[in-house]
Amino acid sequence: MFKINENYLKLPGSYLFSTIAKKVSAYSAANPDKEIIRLGIGDVTLPLAPVVIDSLHNAVDEMGKAETFHGYAPDLGYEFLRNAIVEHDYKKRGADISADEIFVSDGAKSDSGNIGDIFSVDNKIAVCDPVYPVYVDTNAMAGRTGDYIPEQQKWSNVIYMPCTAETNFAPELPKETPDIIYLCFPNNPTGSTITKDELQRWVDYANKVGAVIIYDAAYEAYISEENVPHTIYECEGARTCAIELRSFSKNAGFTGTRCGYTVIPKELERDGHNIYATWYRRQATKFNGVSWPVQCAAAAVFSEEGQKQIKENISYYQENARIIASALDELGIYYTGGKNSPYIWLKCPNNMGSWEFFDLLLNEANVVGTPGEGFGENGAGYFRLTSFGDRENTIEAVERIKKVLANLSK
Ligand code: MLT
Repeated sequence: MFKINENYLKLPGSYLFSTIAKKVSAYSAANPDKEIIRLGIGDVTLPLAPVVIDSLHNAVDEMGKAETFHGYAPDLGYEFLRNAIVEHDYKKRGADISADEIFVSDGAKSDSGNIGDIFSVDNKIAVCDPVYPVYVDTNAMAGRTGDYIPEQQKWSNVIYMPCTAETNFAPELPKETPDIIYLCFPNNPTGSTITKDELQRWVDYANKVGAVIIYDAAYEAYISEENVPHTIYECEGARTCAIELRSFSKNAGFTGTRCGYTVIPKELERDGHNIYATWYRRQATKFNGVSWPVQCAAAAVFSEEGQKQIKENISYYQENARIIASALDELGIYYTGGKNSPYIWLKCPNNMGSWEFFDLLLNEANVVGTPGEGFGENGAGYFRLTSFGDRENTIEAVERIKKVLANLSK
């Protein structure tokens, strides 16, 4: 008899960003005259860089000629792209990663969910709280998280590592030993970072206890301060414990174009098995690669002109972050992030709950943000704004927020 995967039935409600989108659509349908500014989901607004567009056009033309047509891509992705990644993202950082340790993919979100395929359901995961919900939900889908406890908004078989203002929104080493540790720096949602020494502590810990770190570095391009590691492979020993996820979404605007990559060093072994070989086997079976035009476009990001152009876009978003931060300074609202990250994580004013503040901003300012509670228990009372909006909307949004908060204090 047919049976559904019951793990899916244990999932609470809908995916955070779908819930928000539904709320916003309902508001919009009821108030069609209101102009809503979206600073919720971390989706970029600037168009792709000109060199990326040229490369896409060129590659599409190549697909139309027999001599330059491309069918299935190689399992790991095209070598010219993987070489460019190694040169730019690893060699320059003194990190020892080779081109055949890179798996080009359709993005870090899919990879962060899919990687769990190769791990036993008996492994115990450790996640930050607050956390990017994909790490937890995909483990729940795999049956690795136990049961959902609605009153606590937690799963019974997950190690939650609290990240609070007291810990600078960074996790401390867990008391209970995990098998898989999810780390994301610069962090989504809090925008926090850790130093190289602090990350080294995690690497040493994982090697000591035999855990695997899944390191999500999707926001690396926003690092502006010294002593913040750009890749976990800057740390000694990371090759024997860490998998790194990277993305072209936030640095080069590929949220809709889709390209990312996962790095697995060949010597990463657990339980007598080679993780690289296992992931290779999985990808070769379940994934047919990223299209020729998209891989060419991703490679164009690493050209001299490409680097210049994407840096201009990143600076634009960084300026948006400064605009939001300075409004919060003016309002006397506590926040973190924005410096090494496109996200600003703020304390809801007047001790409001996250969803209460979400409703207030949606209804009164027509501005959409993300309620911190949606990322976990320790996100309660916090709110995330993204700097990925366009300049005019960002300025308009902070003016509207200021007005709403001024009315609140009357
Ligand atoms: C976010 O808003 O947290 C991100 O857009 C999520 C993602 O990159 O999938």
